Parts: sequence; C-alpha cells; structure tokens
Amino acid sequence: MKLLGTMQNMDGVLEIGGVSVINLKREFGTPLYIYDLEFMEKKIKDIKKTFKSEKFKTTIVYASKAYLSKGMAQIINKEGLHIDAVSGGELYTILSSGFNSKNIHMHGNNKSYEELYTCVQNEIGSIILDNRFEAEVVAQICKSLNKKMNVMLRLNIGIDAHTHEYIKTSKHSSKFGESIFDKEIQDIVKNIVEKEELNFLGFHCHIGSQIFDEMAFCEGVSIMVQFTKEISDKLNIVIPEINLGGGFGVRYTEEDTDADLKKIMKKIIASLEENLEKEKLEIQNVTIEPGRSIVAQAGSTLYTVGGQKKTYGGEKYVFIDGGMTDNIRPALYSAKYESVVANKLNESKKELVTIAGKCCESGDIISKNTKLGKCTEGDLVLVSCTGAYGHSMSSNYNKALKPAVVFVKEGEAFLISKRESYEDLIKNDCVLPEKIYNID
Ligand SMILES: Cc1ncc(COP(=O)(O)O)c(C=O)c1O
Repeated sequence: MKLLGTMQNMDGVLEIGGVSVINLKREFGTPLYIYDLEFMEKKIKDIKKTFKSEKFKTTIVYASKAYLSKGMAQIINKEGLHIDAVSGGELYTILSSGFNSKNIHMHGNNKSYEELYTCVQNEIGSIILDNRFEAEVVAQICKSLNKKMNVMLRLNIGIDAHTHEYIKTSKHSSKFGESIFDKEIQDIVKNIVEKEELNFLGFHCHIGSQIFDEMAFCEGVSIMVQFTKEISDKLNIVIPEINLGGGFGVRYTEEDTDADLKKIMKKIIASLEENLEKEKLEIQNVTIEPGRSIVAQAGSTLYTVGGQKKTYGGEKYVFIDGGMTDNIRPALYSAKYESVVANKLNESKKELVTIAGKCCESGDIISKNTKLGKCTEGDLVLVSCTGAYGHSMSSNYNKALKPAVVFVKEGEAFLISKRESYEDLIKNDCVLPEKIYNID
C-alpha cells in the first residue's frame, strides 16, 4: 500500500497525523474512519493555488456528498471554500455547523418544496435549478417570502465521462439537468431570466466522476463557453458565471494514474481563458465543485481482524469487523482499494487474501485477491483512500453501528462523530399499540 499524506511507518506501526493506529484503536475502537487533516488541507490549498485566473474570479465549492459532518463543514468554512448540498439533511448539517449561508449552494434533481423553502429562507448563495419546473417553484417561494434568489441552470452537455474514458454521446438519458440540444432550451432560459424573483447567474454542468482525462474537462469547457455565448447573444443578456462541477480523478490503487490535481486545475484554467478569448465572451466567475479529490486520499478505515478461513474452493478470507456497511463502493461498483496490516508493517510475508466484512451478504467484500501481510486475530487492517463516498454512503444494514470518525493532526486525534450505539439504532422505532400487539 502506498503511504499517503502524513502516513509513516514507525517501527512497524502505522502513524497518521503523528498518531499511532494502535492508540487510535485503543481510544476510539474499530471500525474507525480516520481523516488526515493536514493532507486534506494540503489538497484544498493546492486547488486554491492553481484554480486561479487574472481574467475572471474563481470559486471552489466543496461537494459535501463526498463526506460531510459538522467538523468537515467547519474545515471547509475555515479554508474559505464554499459548500454544496443535495438534500435537506446535508443542508441542515451544514447550517448547523455555523457555515456562512451565502457560501452554500443547493443541488438535486428533485428538491422538495420544504428544501427549496429552507434555501430561500436562509438566503443561501444559489440554487442550481435542475429543470424548467423547479424555476416556477423557487419563484413562487421567493414571492411568498419577498426575497430574490440567485439561480443557475444545470445542463446536460452531452459528455459522459468516467475514469480514463469519456464518451461524447448524442444520447441524453441522464436524469440530471436540461439538455443543450433540447429544442426548447432557449425558452427555458428565457423563462428563468424573465422571472423577477430570480437572479440568473449562468449554467452548470457536471460531466461525471473519477475522471483522469484532462481532455474531457477541456471539451466540457469548450461546450459550456460556446453555449453561454450563444444564449447570451440570442437573449441579449449578460451571463456572469459558469460552473463546471467536479469529478477530478484520484489514485486508489496502482492500477490508477497518480492524478496531478494541480496540473488538471491549470489545464482547465488555460482552456477557459482560451475558449473565452475565442468566443469573445466575458465571464465574471467560474466555479468548480471538487468532492472526492479533497477527501478521498485523506481518509482511511481501520478495522480489527477477526477470524480467517480457507475455503474448500481455495479462497483465503481475512474477516474484519466492518465491511459493506461502512464502505459500499466495492459491492456497488467494484471499487478497488489498497490495504495493510497496520500494526505489522514490517511483516515481509505476504499472502493473497480476500478481505471480507461481517454482513450477511456474499458481496460484502472490501478487497478481493489483495496482497496483505500475514495477520492473526486482533491485528489491525487499514484500508486507505476511503475518505470519499465511504462514510457518506454508510448504512445500518444488519443493524451495524456506524463507526466513529476522527481527524488526526500533529499528534492529536479529534473526535468528529461518535460511534453509534445500540440505542441509536432503535431510537426512532415506535412500539405498537396493545390492540395490535397482544401476545396473550
Ligand atoms: C453536481 C455535482 N458536483 C460535484 C460532484 C462531486 O464529484 P467528485 O466527488 O467526483 O469530485 C458531484 C458528484 O456526484 C456532482 O453530482
């Protein structure tokens, strides 16, 4: 496993942020999500330093779906980034952290009336409208509250990009946004622009996730700039902003390219400057929405090894005390991870094993056929790069308790979320009335 961020081998025991995993296990138990705060802050600084232009202002919005807690929102606020939400729950968490509401942006393809109402009431930075119908609802809410709301319109620009490949497609089946090829698109925009309760800022797109191909982003820039120019000319309006979404690729295992985030940022800026110049378009502000690229590598999950099993079919299992409930990505889309026996880093004997969780589900696998140092019951397995879409997609399947989360930095560990208790699991369960539940 590649040691990431502040990870260090201290006499065979892994340290993160200057804290040994043995101490972390002793203090917080396992499974445990560990975030390397210094590494996360470095990622943010790298983006801030490189996503910059003299031709327009830039805004970096952290896509909170990648990982969110009040503590995380506080870090994002401290770093001066904006943040997005896609649900009432995310919005509530962010607002509860004391985040400046002007720096919050709301996404979602099916926002409820209540969610939109909360956005307007709290005067958040902007609502990214998914479709023509949402514009009506937001305008109605604004009217009732006597407020004006900044809005953008999410576009489907016909690029579908994932990992190393991107497909420019003429099929537009995504559930997100309005297609730039829709024959009514100009009228949709005109309708938004004409609503006096709405302040139309411009267009948004998000072309996919875990993208390594810089050309996919450049293609996106080119389409967005051309489309913005075309609409501003046709409707004779000034469109001040462009939002390019997130999706910047991250190295999980040696199979992935070691993506250079700073290089990608510079490339996007260069492409923006070039396209704006070509189209003779002036834009005041360009936004990106990185999620994974800020938190994925900074996060790891620590587990305790339980039993081991060699099956009749030859598979060697190492069982851990978590699994698909704290990391659904391998089961959901065959995501791959690297791992180590974190209290025996110097163990030279390696075995090909499958790390499996404790859920009643055959697909509850964290790593299939992975090289791991020899370990026994009670040893600690650390899976790296679990910081994005691990905690945020965690579940209580089999009534598993959601693990605690700690941030570590300079020898200290800060508890960010407590481990759930059995009481937490049933706190919303109601008891049936006697007329239904009568065991006599
Ligand atoms: C609209 C939008 N912005 C940003 C992101 C963040 O993407 P990533 O975490 O890959 O950077 C997503 C992810 O789904 C998204 O849907």
